[in-house]
Amino acid sequence: MTGAPHIIVAPDAAGVAAAAAQRLLDRVMETPAAAVCLTGGSTPKQLYQLLASPTWRARIPWQRVHWFLGDERAVGDEDPLSNGGMARAAFLDACAPPANVHLIEAASGPPDDVARAYQIVLEEFKTHRRSGMPLFDLVLLGVGPDGHVASLFPNSAALAEKSRWVVGVDHANVAPFVPRISLTLPCLADACEMLFLATGNGKRDILRRVFAGEDLPAGHARAAGGDTVWLLDQAADPRAAP
Ligand code: 6PG
Repeated sequence: MTGAPHIIVAPDAAGVAAAAAQRLLDRVMETPAAAVCLTGGSTPKQLYQLLASPTWRARIPWQRVHWFLGDERAVGDEDPLSNGGMARAAFLDACAPPANVHLIEAASGPPDDVARAYQIVLEEFKTHRRSGMPLFDLVLLGVGPDGHVASLFPNSAALAEKSRWVVGVDHANVAPFVPRISLTLPCLADACEMLFLATGNGKRDILRRVFAGEDLPAGHARAAGGDTVWLLDQAADPRAAP
């Protein structure tokens, strides 16, 4: 990680969700056809549910926001492991026009074929972005116990990929031990803002290692031409007294 990270600390997980919702709203209000790249895992669920709550549902311009996914497990939409299934259940099915939801069809074939198909979706969407605009207005990310982001695990070919936007990942370092489909660092970096979400004291140690500059995927992820922000709750903040 080069340079001091931009860290924002909220009192608790609810505060992280509220602050993330506000940052998402601010970002999508800046452009006529906004693009948000969602993260998987468990941390963002509270944010996604908040977006579907009456107050936030009324504030978000759903007709002009498009939703994408940073990585997916190679399972069906109905599988409890599905990141897209979680996001659909939490808010997308209730709030977003179906034509604006562009998730990864993980069960439609081998991971690398799925990845190539999703890259076409992203490339096509980018043709509609104003010239010079990054692909995404906001990229949400979590951080795994081994410092992975999306499904880019340490010392992996997927992490080292510099030209493809989306790749198949045959082996996951951490649970769930299923193949994945993941956006690559250059694709995730094509963003106005990259926003990491981390809550709970279980994140404290890996964040300490990332912020100390250890060579970990999360330390290499940043918005190429925008803001990279770490939004933590106090329990996850490695700088706070244990
Ligand atoms: C995934 C995620 C992954 C996640 C981290 C953190 O598919 O698992 O995209 O990158 O963000 O593993 O997961 P938690 O939020 O559950 O801690």
